[in-house]
Amino acid sequence: MPARRYDSAAVDVSPLGQPLKFEFSGKVAKNRFYKASMAEDLATWNVDNLEERGIPTKELIDLYRIWGENEWGIIATGNIDIEFDMLDAVGDAIITPECPLSGPRFEAFQEMAKVTKANGSLIVAQLTHPGRQLAARIREDTIAPSAIQHPPKNGSVYAKPREATKEDIARVIDGFAHAAEYLDKAGFDGIQLHGAHGYLIAQFLSELSNQRTDEYGGSIENRLRFVSEIAKEIKRRVRPNFIVGIKVNSVEFQEKGIKPAEARIMCETFQALEFDYVELSGGNHEDIGYGSKKETTLKREAYFLEFVRDIVPHLSQTKKILTGGFRTTAAMVDALHILDGIGLGRPAAQEPRLAADILSGKVASAVRPVDGVVNDVILSLMSAGSQMTQVVRGQEPFDLSDEKAFASFQADLGAHFQRFAAAGGSLEFRGFPEISDPDNTSHPYGVPY
Ligand SMILES: Cc1cc2nc3c(=O)[nH]c(=O)nc-3n(C[C@H](O)[C@H](O)[C@H](O)COP(=O)(O)O)c2cc1C
Repeated sequence: MPARRYDSAAVDVSPLGQPLKFEFSGKVAKNRFYKASMAEDLATWNVDNLEERGIPTKELIDLYRIWGENEWGIIATGNIDIEFDMLDAVGDAIITPECPLSGPRFEAFQEMAKVTKANGSLIVAQLTHPGRQLAARIREDTIAPSAIQHPPKNGSVYAKPREATKEDIARVIDGFAHAAEYLDKAGFDGIQLHGAHGYLIAQFLSELSNQRTDEYGGSIENRLRFVSEIAKEIKRRVRPNFIVGIKVNSVEFQEKGIKPAEARIMCETFQALEFDYVELSGGNHEDIGYGSKKETTLKREAYFLEFVRDIVPHLSQTKKILTGGFRTTAAMVDALHILDGIGLGRPAAQEPRLAADILSGKVASAVRPVDGVVNDVILSLMSAGSQMTQVVRGQEPFDLSDEKAFASFQADLGAHFQRFAAAGGSLEFRGFPEISDPDNTSHPYGVPY
């Protein structure tokens, strides 16, 4: 049986196929589809030798080649970290200030850029520092704007932060700027700062985590200083045609981290810094926020559309991309009245061909996962991760709209968590759940279930 899809009103999808020109860099995306960041857990990993961590593997490069073949206008990478031991997650790609612009790591990034761009997509690397969201099993101590530890969540215990010193801040600025320069030279089209989901840049922006009394804390202008210094240093080191974007997040706005009135100042600052685009999304580790708790009807399928309406009027030259919940062409085309690009995360794991299939008129919406997935953030994150792993193994991602496939994935996820618990925090443990049911691994990539 073909996968079940969301119902979509019939619409002319040609607006989604319109090119998007970035004002400051001058780069042009061939259409409005933005493959949102999804941490892949596919880079090299070595528990003992830090320098052998975070090199893009053949599998990681293959995944990007496949998205590149499928008409995504802009393809954002998963988190790329700027320290070997301050990671968003085990298996992320890594570029630190010590990494030279030559050698196996650099060549792997060059290859990743080349294959992704072969069919005209733009590739933008997401750069991240976890700050207080660093898992304690990776490293016990970390830096943050203030020494406020992240409470344990979903079985994760976080590193103990100290207040970042001026030297720490200088190291982070250098780390972001070096990574941007490195990626520019490796052939990437741009970078995106991860200023969302409670990571270090978001921690500086939010009063909840930033209680500093120096020039980096207090007023919104002061809380913006950290990201402003990073952006200026990046711009100083990259070529003028290199895209610089940022991802920000609605939860921090809605729940007193950033007040609505401050959003205007933030947007004006981003535009003055010449950010090519702002990607808006939701959630941090305390409240992941990709769920549908506020979703009442499919008409409001982008969870954050209302929030966008507060932000959009303050951005003109800086383009606006929204990620989170887009599933039907009707909603995507409608959103282009106020937005410039449509971000898709989980649907791009279930269907790496989705952008091409929508533009060719083959489908009018994404696969509709069973309710058990839609309503469970962990399940939907982990299943997307397993699907990406399937793609690089040459398998078609299993069909999340199928109850039987879902039931066996739930069992696989349970086994995965048991193995995680048994590993007792060992850093050898990595990866997404293994799909055990042969029915869900039997189709070669490209042959739908
Ligand atoms: C497996 C997985 C990994 C993710 N990793 C990242 C990440 O590295 N960086 C990021 O900004 N967002 C990450 N996200 C969030 C997505 O970019 C996106 O904001 C979220 O999935 C909501 O969009 P969607 O409803 O289209 O899936 C991840 C999501 C998934 C499912």
